[in-house]
Amino acid sequence: MPLLEVENIVKTFRRGGGPEVRAVDGVSFSIESGETLSLIGESGSGKSTIGRIVLGLEPPDEGRILFDGQDLTAMSPRELRALRSSITAVFQEPYESLNPRMTVEAIVGEPLRLFRRELSAAQRRDRVIATLEEVGLGERVLRRHPGDLSGGQQQRVGIARALVVDPRMIVLDEPTSSLDLTVRATVLNLLRELQERHALTYLFISHDIATVRYFSRSTGVLYLGKVMEYGPTHELIDEPRHPYSVGLLSCTLSADPDVSVPAQRLEGDTPSPTTRRAGCPLVGRCPVELASCSAAPVPLMPISPTRSAACLRLAPTEVVA
Ligand SMILES: Nc1ncnc2c1ncn2[C@@H]1O[C@H](COP(=O)(O)OP(=O)(O)OP(=O)(O)O)[C@@H](O)[C@H]1O
Ligand code: SF4
Ligand SMILES: [Mg+2]
Repeated sequence: MPLLEVENIVKTFRRGGGPEVRAVDGVSFSIESGETLSLIGESGSGKSTIGRIVLGLEPPDEGRILFDGQDLTAMSPRELRALRSSITAVFQEPYESLNPRMTVEAIVGEPLRLFRRELSAAQRRDRVIATLEEVGLGERVLRRHPGDLSGGQQQRVGIARALVVDPRMIVLDEPTSSLDLTVRATVLNLLRELQERHALTYLFISHDIATVRYFSRSTGVLYLGKVMEYGPTHELIDEPRHPYSVGLLSCTLSADPDVSVPAQRLEGDTPSPTTRRAGCPLVGRCPVELASCSAAPVPLMPISPTRSAACLRLAPTEVVA
């Protein structure tokens, strides 16, 4: 049984009296325990909103989230609170997500104060020190503030805060995109080591295709709140099939000599997320669209034993033909 099952979640926002934004539009996926699933897609495609829903920070308008078989969307606030330490998060901007007035000890100890109330102050401190050691920082940073630390050290504090309550799953929302390249590699290696040591399950949100390839077993490609393509990461990145994935990856990877993604440009820019469409969201930008593409929603369909895509061109009859 997967550790996390996301079933057909929908989330809409309305700013002021303005038009509705369908930030997440019927997304489903699952993650096996100890595995990593990546979500990739342009800015505004709904990645962070999905992360926030999985974390219980936003309720979905529709759909279900099952964690270890339990339906989070049907739980009372009290039951949800008990589960909150099982799914934690590391966010993109370590400095913004760490309170600059708190010491590292207080930041990393805070989840213990909330979720491990049975621990004494001394036990809490020991646990904080042990966790800081695990992330390569140690006791020397206990009395420091975030502003005294480098970007890489700040993100290690963010990872320690996510790890200290012994979670089963961590949502990693662009955890390395604000770091420079060498620091990025060491933080990614740390995340992988921690995953192996603690059998952690990761939902990994990223713009960075190279990192996704290194990091995750499966990947979903999002566009305007919908999954366009889903499958094993290496297959999907080396041979994208959905016209949107081909366009996204060909412009991202065209500089990489090891990757031969067919060149295929999407026309125009990403439309406003407030525009409602009856059919495929890529209509108007897709170089291979059909007249039928705008008629009705195009569901995610299996296109091979391991891959799914939401595209009429890849519908099973065409694949067989
Ligand atoms: N609290 C909110 N109120 C109104 N609109 C929101 C809110 N949160 C997200 N949105 C809108 O929902 C859509 C998806 O946003 P989201 O932050 O999930 O995208 P993202 O894929 O994480 O983008 P990025 O790569 O820039 O982080 C966007 O159009 C965004 O403006
Ligand atoms: S369903 Fe049609 S418009 Fe959408 S990606 Fe496929 S061919 Fe293009
Ligand atoms: Mg985001």
